Amino acid sequence: MPVWRYDSNGDLEIDSASECSAETERWFLPGGVCLTDHQKRSLEFGSQFVDATGLKAHLKPLGRKLHVLTDCSGAEAPITALYLMFGKDSIKHLSACDKAKGPQEYIKANFPDAELYHDVLSWEVEKFVDKVDIYAAGFPCKAFSRMRTFSLWLQDPEARPFYGCVSNIKSLRPRAAVMENVMGIALVMVEVKDHLVKELPEYDIYIIVLSPHQFGVNLNRERYYFLLVRKEYAIGDLEAITTQTLTDLEKKFEHSEPWQTFLLPDDHELLTDKKERRHAEKKDYSIVAKPKPEEPKWRHIHWEVMQRNKVVKKNLKKDVDAWQKRLKTPRSCQALAILSSIKPTWTACDLSQSLHRMPVIGDGAPFMCITPNGKYWIREKQRCLLGLEKLLLMGFPIHVLNVTCVSDTVLSSLGGNAMHIRPVAAALACVLKSMDIQKVATLRL
Ligand SMILES: C[S@@+](CC[C@H](N)C(=O)[O-])C[C@H]1O[C@@H](n2cnc3c(N)ncnc32)[C@H](O)[C@@H]1O
Repeated sequence: MPVWRYDSNGDLEIDSASECSAETERWFLPGGVCLTDHQKRSLEFGSQFVDATGLKAHLKPLGRKLHVLTDCSGAEAPITALYLMFGKDSIKHLSACDKAKGPQEYIKANFPDAELYHDVLSWEVEKFVDKVDIYAAGFPCKAFSRMRTFSLWLQDPEARPFYGCVSNIKSLRPRAAVMENVMGIALVMVEVKDHLVKELPEYDIYIIVLSPHQFGVNLNRERYYFLLVRKEYAIGDLEAITTQTLTDLEKKFEHSEPWQTFLLPDDHELLTDKKERRHAEKKDYSIVAKPKPEEPKWRHIHWEVMQRNKVVKKNLKKDVDAWQKRLKTPRSCQALAILSSIKPTWTACDLSQSLHRMPVIGDGAPFMCITPNGKYWIREKQRCLLGLEKLLLMGFPIHVLNVTCVSDTVLSSLGGNAMHIRPVAAALACVLKSMDIQKVATLRL
C-alpha cells in the first residue's frame, strides 16, 4: 500500500513507487500539460484499482473491447476512469451526448472515436440497442441541487434529462449502467427509486453514496451512484459484490493524499501567464465605517460580519497588498482580510460566495466541493485555482488529455460538473465485478 510522506525538501513523496502504474502514454493530440512525476503517479491510479479488485482476471474471458456509451457526457469522467484502469485500447467508446458547446468541443478533441449526439431526450438510440456493455450518465443536477432556491424536483423541466437517461437505458438494454447525481436528490429518492424499478424491471439496482476521500483523495464530493446490472448478466448479489469491492479498494487507499498535491507547481508556465500577473486597478479597498444605504449589498454584509465578530479595523490591512495584486475586486479583497481576522488558520475559501455564507476550510481539512462557478482562493499560493486545476483536483490526468481545445472557463465548468474520477472508477469496478463476463463474452455484437 502506498504511503505518502514529506521528504527532506518538503516535497511529497510516495514510499512504494512500485505500486503505481508506469507512465501512461499520451493518449491524444498534443495539448496535455506538464506535471511533476509525483502528480502523474497520483493521477495514474488505475492499475491500483484493477489490482485491488482483481478486475484483470475477471474481465479476461471477454476477449474483446468493453463497449461503453455515455449520456450527459460532460468531461467524460467514466470513460477517462476506464482508460486509466484498462488502457484506451481496451475500451470501445460507442457514443457520447451533450447539449452544451464547451463539452462538445472537449469531447470532439479528446474522444474522437465516439459518435457525438446533442440531446439525451432525442438521439438515435436504436442504433446501439443490445450493443452496450456499460452505459454511464451523470444527469444534470439543477433540479436536485440544494443550492437552488426553487425547484419542482422531479416535475421540474430541469429533471427531464433524468427521465431521458432512464428511457435510454430501457431502449438500449445495456448489460450494466452507472448514473450519478448530487446529494440533494435524496429528498425525492423514494420517487426516483420507484421510477427506476418500474421502468427497468430487468435490472438489479443498488444506490450508494461515494466520495473521493474513500479512495485516497482529501476532497469532499459525496455523490449518489446508481448501479444497475441486467439480471440475466448478474453473477451474484449486487449489494454484496459492491460492498466487497469497495472494501478491497478502501483498504488499498487507507491514506489520503492532501489536495495540495493536485495543484500546479508554482513555476508552471500557466501560472506565470500575464492574466495571473495582472495588478489590480485603483479601487477603494478600504473598510469604510457603517455603509450608507446606497452602497453595494456586499459592503453591508461585510460590515455586519465585522460587527458580529468584533473585528478590529486596523488589523485588516495585513495581507491586503499581496492580494490586491491578483484580485480584481474590492469585495474579494475585503472578504479575505475580514476572513483572516476571524479565522486565522483558514487555508482556502470560495470567493464566489458572499462572506456570510462563504465555504472556508482550515489546515488538513478536505477540499470543499468543487462547483462550476466556484472561485477558490488558495491562501498559501495567493491565487485562485485555475479551471484546469479543478480538473486536476477532480482526478483528470491532464498531462495526457487535450486541455487546450477549450478555454479555462470551459475547463472550470467541466471540472465543476464532473464526477470525481476515483469514485466513478469504483462504481464502474462494482458493476463490472457483478457481471457474468463469460456470458457477456458469448454475445454476438
Ligand atoms: C453533471 S454534468 C455531467 C458530467 C459528466 N458525467 C462527467 O462526469 O464529466 C451534466 C451534463 O449534461 C449536459 N446536459 C444537460 N442537458 C442535456 C441534454 N438535454 N442532453 C444532453 N446533455 C445535457 C450538460 O451540458 C452537462 O455537461
